[in-house]
Amino acid sequence: MNTHTAIFDQWIRTRFAAINSELEQLYWQQSDKANVEGIGDALKQQLKNEGNALISNLLAEGNTDQGFDSAFDLLGNVGLFMAACRRHEITEPSREITSPLIEASALAMHIGASIGVTPRFATAHLTTHNKALNGVYKRFTNLPDEKLFLDYNTQGILAYKRASDALLKILPLGISHPLCGELLKVAKHALNAVIESNNALYNQLDTERFFNCVRPYYKPYRVGKEVYRGANAGDFAGINVIDMLLGLCSANEPSYSQMLVDKFLYMMPEDQQILREAMRMQSFMDDFLQAEQHKNSDWFKTHAKLFIQVCKLHGDTAIGHHNQLVEKFIAQPSKNMQQQHMSKVTASGPPLHVLLDSLEKLRDRRSSAKRDDMKTRFDDLNTLKQWIK
Ligand code: HEM
Repeated sequence: MNTHTAIFDQWIRTRFAAINSELEQLYWQQSDKANVEGIGDALKQQLKNEGNALISNLLAEGNTDQGFDSAFDLLGNVGLFMAACRRHEITEPSREITSPLIEASALAMHIGASIGVTPRFATAHLTTHNKALNGVYKRFTNLPDEKLFLDYNTQGILAYKRASDALLKILPLGISHPLCGELLKVAKHALNAVIESNNALYNQLDTERFFNCVRPYYKPYRVGKEVYRGANAGDFAGINVIDMLLGLCSANEPSYSQMLVDKFLYMMPEDQQILREAMRMQSFMDDFLQAEQHKNSDWFKTHAKLFIQVCKLHGDTAIGHHNQLVEKFIAQPSKNMQQQHMSKVTASGPPLHVLLDSLEKLRDRRSSAKRDDMKTRFDDLNTLKQWIK
């Protein structure tokens, strides 16, 4: 790490988190906890001035090509600063037509375009690609609520990735290969870990603290002229690889492919590559359905049974995400929020009811629910279940 980059990183890990934490404390003391206007103005000014000064040094330095990892890491640091400015309403996308953080925007766009990712901080920066120093990784604040949220997000993402890696390994072997069953068992185990981790998050995270002090850092913000949607724990390829390899969601279904198109640049380049490949593969569901002539063979019965269990578990992760996490930590508190703040609730921008509707459809596809208004694999899974009875 060169000197300016190291100084900025050090600032993000110390002063930045301390100022944000102080501001959170001030907002929290109000009866309307969602208000940030006119609160802690001196701290906000400090955050903006210190961040801008450090970023100006980096911008002046230009491209000093330290490789992908270091560029991605720096983009994350600039992004954390810009997201915090948005959280404290130092910037506000509906108030401006271009970001007032001119240097930060220029640096973010330079790096993002050069490494093939969106020019804002992404989920990976805070979860799977967040270097801990002496046990402490980068965060917006020093609040235990944020740490808890990030620990479990990272845990969930890592477990989904284990499931997706196992399923990808089946591709070159085929569903009748003797080792297919072992890989399906690994996927089962990993999806069970997602469920356990999400349950723990559901039980331990404090709703009000999350909604008021953590979630606001994930709002959309402007970089240059463009508004970029907020980061969410789904911005990695694994979840969609599982959807498509199992055959529960399909890349030629318009709303699903729209979601994939929208999320590509929010993922690490290696994830973009994996997702592209998964979009071209035939699903295991179709493989099993096409292997009807073998339905009485031992391999078919064993592997199809495990496959159905994996599908069930994947559906259960989606049901837990929607009915527990989204419901408890977003939908319910939104209902209690003062109307004036409502337009700013979701990370991705659309009104809450639109977001909830699309998440509900995803849940029902993943869990193969019976729906008349859209295609799910309800009937196909029942066919498989009949065959192995
Ligand atoms: C997307 C809420 C934790 C996986 C979303 C979205 C919301 C949400 C509202 C929609 C996009 C947006 O607003 O930007 C929450 C809440 C959580 C939580 C309130 C906990 C407090 C997690 C965890 C995982 C996860 C731990 C596991 C890795 C996903 C995925 C998506 C997503 C995969 C993308 C949409 C999809 O494919 O389902 N989440 N989430 N979330 N979240 Fe979470």
